[in-house]
Amino acid sequence: MKDALGSVQSILVLGGSSEIGIAIARKLAQPRRATVVLAGRVEAALQKAADDVRAAGAGDVHVARFDASDTTGHEDVIAKAAEMVGGDLDVIVLAFGVLGDQQVDEEGGNGAVEVATTNYVGVVSSGLAAGRRLRSQGHGTVVFLSSVAGERVRRANFIYGSSKAGMDGFAQGLGDSLAGSGASALIVRPGFVRTKMTAGMSEAPFATTPDAVAEATARAIAAGKEVIWVPSVLRFVFAVFRHLPRVLWRKVPG
Ligand SMILES: NC(=O)c1ccc[n+]([C@@H]2O[C@H](COP(=O)([O-])OP(=O)(O)OC[C@H]3O[C@@H](n4cnc5c(N)ncnc54)[C@H](OP(=O)(O)O)[C@@H]3O)[C@@H](O)[C@H]2O)c1
Repeated sequence: MKDALGSVQSILVLGGSSEIGIAIARKLAQPRRATVVLAGRVEAALQKAADDVRAAGAGDVHVARFDASDTTGHEDVIAKAAEMVGGDLDVIVLAFGVLGDQQVDEEGGNGAVEVATTNYVGVVSSGLAAGRRLRSQGHGTVVFLSSVAGERVRRANFIYGSSKAGMDGFAQGLGDSLAGSGASALIVRPGFVRTKMTAGMSEAPFATTPDAVAEATARAIAAGKEVIWVPSVLRFVFAVFRHLPRVLWRKVPG
């Protein structure tokens, strides 16, 4: 449970090798040496992330198996994480996601389905399980890593963008369903973040870092916010973009 100053004592990151997820765990764990569970698919990557989070000042750090596409196991992963931290989960971060390769995936194969399954179906399943857990505790925050790519979907990356639009809508609804329960949902909408997901791509304007996303997320949790943009200027940029005529919008490059 959060202490009197709002510092968290237990954190679960689903997609525990995500660079943004690790940065959030590092940031949230520091003040109270919180217990952290990093859950994901690749043991070696999780162990490396665990060392990183420990070095940043976390208390106990555990790793666990989680696959976004194995939806039948999600309830169990969250229950086991609660056992690992010895009680309630203060923050559950849904940090997993895949970008796909729009040009390749438009041509066929399973890439588009993998994007939709991971980024949308996986979020629906684990997000509902997280919501049930936090509602039963009567406190806690589930953090959704959405994206400005979902705020207005672009021709250049509409497979990924639509998966983020779907998960963002789901997260808004889940947040509304939690209102009054003591638990809450925070939607984080970053722009371009320099991580392994975007390695080798040309940077978009207002590019930022995992640590900046983590700082903003920690502040938003403490303030009880429901939606943030990182950097915050993107809120206003997309308020304008949302109203551009489609004939212009479809020409926005990738
Ligand atoms: N980077 C950006 O510019 C940006 C911008 C806005 C939003 N976001 C979102 O922020 C989140 C984190 O992204 P990031 O930049 O930190 O990227 P990242 O470092 O590539 O992390 C994504 C993680 O998702 C995990 N993952 C993928 N498929 C999975 C599955 N089926 N089950 C479990 N884990 C799975 C990957 O782990 P393994 O492959 O090792 O299993 C990977 O570590 C994503 O949802 C992303 O869409 C990123």
